Parts: sequence; C-alpha cells; structure tokens
Amino acid sequence: MPFTPAVSELPEIAPDIVIASNPAEAIAGEVRAGLTSIPKTLSPWLFYDETGSRLFEQITELPEYYLTRTERAIFHTHADEIIAEASRPTGNDPAPILTLIELGAGTATKTGILLAAAVRRQGRVVYQPVDVSVTALEAATENIRANVPGVTVRCQVADYTTQALPLNRLPNTRTLALYIGSSIGNFSPDDARDVLRNLRAQLLPGDTLLLGTDLAPLNGASSSTKDESTLLAAYNDDAGVTAAFNSNVLARLNRELGANFNLNRFIHKAIWNSEESRIEMHLESLVPQRVHIPENTSGSAFTLDFAAGESIHTENSYKFTPARVERLLTSSGFTLTRQWQDPQHFFAVNLATAV
Ligand code: TRP
Repeated sequence: MPFTPAVSELPEIAPDIVIASNPAEAIAGEVRAGLTSIPKTLSPWLFYDETGSRLFEQITELPEYYLTRTERAIFHTHADEIIAEASRPTGNDPAPILTLIELGAGTATKTGILLAAAVRRQGRVVYQPVDVSVTALEAATENIRANVPGVTVRCQVADYTTQALPLNRLPNTRTLALYIGSSIGNFSPDDARDVLRNLRAQLLPGDTLLLGTDLAPLNGASSSTKDESTLLAAYNDDAGVTAAFNSNVLARLNRELGANFNLNRFIHKAIWNSEESRIEMHLESLVPQRVHIPENTSGSAFTLDFAAGESIHTENSYKFTPARVERLLTSSGFTLTRQWQDPQHFFAVNLATAV
C-alpha cells in the first residue's frame, strides 16, 4: 500500500556535485596498465569524457541499438512493480523508504521512469547519481528536476569501479542501487564480480540492486528473433556513430595525454565472439605504425608498435543467459529476487537483494 513518509525525514538538499577523484591521474594510470598489457586493453569508463558521453547518448537513439529502448519499455511496463518489490517490508523494516543511487548514471534519461514510480509510492525520493562525466551529471540533474517533481538530486563524480561511494544514507532508508544499460557487460566476468562486490560492500543486507543485462541470442528459440546480426548491427550502425565513439578514446588519449594516435589509421570493428558470449570492439591498425605516449604522472614515456591488421581490443559487451546473471549475482553477495524481460527476450532487468 502506498504511503507518504514524514517529509521532514527527507531534507531538501540543493543539487550538488561532489568530485571524488583525480581524473588526470586515474586516466594516466589506466592507460599505462591497459596498453602495456597483452592483449592491449582499456577500461570502459575511459570512453566517457564529454565527447564520448555525447556520442553514447546518440548511440542510445540509433535504430540499430535496441538495448536502450528495450530497457526503457521494460521500465515503462514494470516500474511500479520494480519499486514495490524493492520496497517489500521485512520484519525489522516494516515500511521501507527507498533512496536510489545510480552507477554510471549518464544523463539519467531512463531513470526518471523509476524515480517517478518511487515518488508515487513514497511521496519524495533522494537520488544519488554517480558518473565519471561532470557534463553528463549536469544534464542528469537538469533532466530529473525538469521532469520528475519530488526528487532530491545529489551528484557524485567518481569511478565507481574502484572508489567507495559516499552513500549519505538517510537514517532508516533502504538503498536501491541502479546499474542499468548493460554497463556490467562491459567488464570481464572477474571484473564484473569485483564491481558488484565493491558495491555490495557499501550496502546493508536487504538493500537491493537493479541490474540491466543484455541477453545472449537464443539460438533457434521461436519466441526470440534476436540473432548474431541483431547484435552486430547494434555495435556497427550505418551512421557510423559507434565507430566515432570507439575512435574517440584514441582522440581522448591524444588530447589528455599528448599521445599521437593517427585516427585515420585505425578502423572500428565489431565482432561476435560466441564462445565468450560477447561483442568485441576493436580499433584495427590499417598500416604498420608506432604510437608515442609522453611521460606523465604515472611514469616515463613509452611507445606502442602496431603491425598492419593488429588491433587494440577496446571494449567487450557480454551478453547474458539468465543462469549467468544468477551466477554473477550469487558470487558477489546478492541473490536474484526477480527478473523482467521484454516480450522478445532481447533484454533483462534483474532485481537482486544484498545478503
Ligand atoms: N554498455 C554499452 C553496451 O555494451 C556500451 C556501448 C555501446 C559501447 N556501444 C559501444 C562500448 C561501443 C564500446 C563501444 O552496449
């Protein structure tokens, strides 16, 4: 049954941005570690500078990129149920009030649907988006303030994969952590488990996590039309936005670290790796070439040599079976409470409870 908590319990906090990291140092360290390892890798959050965040917003609106609109449709259909489930009373918490936090909030365009449902149930809600992009958080704050009355927004600029989140938990509220958009799929299975364990360590038993996961193609299953070509198109759109998003990471290293990647000599490639159940993004070197990264706070200068056809494996996007989601949650201190899918079984939204 909906109820309205005493408003005095939820003080109005002015929208505020807390910067919890030193971005320049973090970038230098990540790039050195990633590009000198074999195979060369880069951490997913490096894509999301101002330009990258803007390009990603464009990706989410592409006709080929079914993920965002499918997850949004699941929220539209089930938001009240999701909030009710996350607010389920327990013995020591008979009338829970939720605080929502969001990892990698971006501009929070889908989150408004869940926040509106939380406001319908409890009258007001505190929302704490966390992201590495200040501009994305400014847009998120604007968007939520303009569209969802009853929400108090507190932003934090942080890399949630490694940093503890200052949760500012209000007394007697339960946390619902949102990790949507299939961002968890951008981590290797081990790193995904570590990200969720890091989050779990900051929650209390009974707090919940809403995790968005893109589903693996169901080979031959008649209820799904999702196949390899659906997946490949989503990461190789006709307008070339994904290609621009992928190359932007090199442009960023040029801008912020003084590297000298020649963007015309790398091309975007998306590959479906069925064994690993993931889309792989590569930037393939068209010619033999050498790239220089100057000395920085993480250490001395270094060079990278590329053969023609050699690639930087820039990103993965893992696709999950329901069983795989459950294993991931269990191994990081959660239990899967409930899962919602779209009618075509393209995407899943999972509610997990911290144990
Ligand atoms: N979380 C998104 C996904 O895996 C991120 C993404 C979309 C992405 N397109 C990309 C990451 C292209 C790297 C390259 O779908």
